[in-house]
Amino acid sequence: MGAFVINGGKPLFGSAVISSSKNAILPIISACLLTDEECIIKQIPGLDDVTGMCELVSNLGADVRVDGKTRNIYICAKSLSGHTAEYELVSKLRASFLVMGPLLAKAGKAKVALPGGCPIGSRPVDLHLKGFEAMGAKIDNGHGFIEARCPGNKLKGTTIYLDFPSVGATENLITAAVLAEGQTIIENAASEPEIVDLASFLTKMGAKISGAGTDTIIIDGVDKVNGAEHTIMPDRIEAGTFMTAAALTGGDITLLNVVPEHLKPVTAKLRESGMEIIENGNSVKVRGIARPSALDIKTHPFPGFPTDMQAQLSAYSCFAEGTSVIVETIFENRFMHVNELRRMGAQIRVDGRTAIIEGIESLQGAQVRATDLRAGAALVIAGLAARGTTEVLDIHHIDRGYEFIENKLQRLGADIRRI
Ligand code: UD1
Repeated sequence: MGAFVINGGKPLFGSAVISSSKNAILPIISACLLTDEECIIKQIPGLDDVTGMCELVSNLGADVRVDGKTRNIYICAKSLSGHTAEYELVSKLRASFLVMGPLLAKAGKAKVALPGGCPIGSRPVDLHLKGFEAMGAKIDNGHGFIEARCPGNKLKGTTIYLDFPSVGATENLITAAVLAEGQTIIENAASEPEIVDLASFLTKMGAKISGAGTDTIIIDGVDKVNGAEHTIMPDRIEAGTFMTAAALTGGDITLLNVVPEHLKPVTAKLRESGMEIIENGNSVKVRGIARPSALDIKTHPFPGFPTDMQAQLSAYSCFAEGTSVIVETIFENRFMHVNELRRMGAQIRVDGRTAIIEGIESLQGAQVRATDLRAGAALVIAGLAARGTTEVLDIHHIDRGYEFIENKLQRLGADIRRI
């Protein structure tokens, strides 16, 4: 399964280029199913989740080619041969559920395995399904699959109010609405930057979308969409992870290819804890100038503090001066990194969705296990700052969402290697 061995205590110095966003590229690959024409997505990140999504659209009959040199990916879904996403792929990659919207819109039917359990929470898909039903789809749930069909092969535009601004439901419903008859309005929609990137790609394809990035998104259905070229937005979570690692190790790094606006919630917390962050165009400089002071953090949908950075800031707070309080409001079971951090000496108490962290001067290296993607990133950060050697096991979780993380960290001076 692989492990990272980290000898901690080395400050990060230098510069690194942030990769394209994992969470933005997955719905965009899926949206390529909407057209018969070729789509080109540029500079794709080398991530297991991206490979998984390509495999899925390829299984559905799309022609998928990756140019190893440019790292562009060419997808042509002219001859879809299937409409079923099997459990084997869906269980590995929850974002597989995002093929439902485009398949329903284009083929009039879609069958996707129920995603099943997930370590960070139950993650139901009821909001996606309520939206499809409101647009006229008939949904059946049986034998581990959700099957949706639309009578007359065309969804109908309508107004959908989401009980919660779910990122995935917003993405699935936008892509479904692109080819629907008439206008669809999504209220209480998610406003994450990845939604804006998806809308921007769909608009290049000829979709009529307004309001992406706000809580009300309006989609006027069109008869067909064309191929398009797109460069994916930078990964704000990868950037936040590196910022946290640099600040905690007392380093001084510059991250290139970032959108500082997207990083505001993380920047604000790092600054509040005493770090120096300088934004400059599409780069950000981070200097760890002191032992961090304790933080109060509560996760929220964008533009609030992202749940995908909660584990990393929890690791950071273990080294802080004072008591930090971290509240997770998005997922019900996202404190699995806590037990592993305790193995490194962290003083953390969890009460429901709240973690109370008594900061200590340093953690000690230990053998720990990545239980999910961001928990894994948190353990890498802790290992980089800890005294002694940390071995992070099960790093396949980390490979899902961080491209060449050990190479990037090595170039910044970290003592980390993959075994
Ligand atoms: C996306 C991101 C993930 C991030 C999350 C929240 C991708 C590929 N993944 O996941 O990294 O942590 O947003 O920012 O982009 N919910 C329901 N019913 C639904 C849908 C969601 O109850 O039908 C609940 C979920 O269980 C969860 C909350 O809503 O508690 C947020 O989920 P959602 O925003 O949908 O997250 P994902 O799109 O799965």
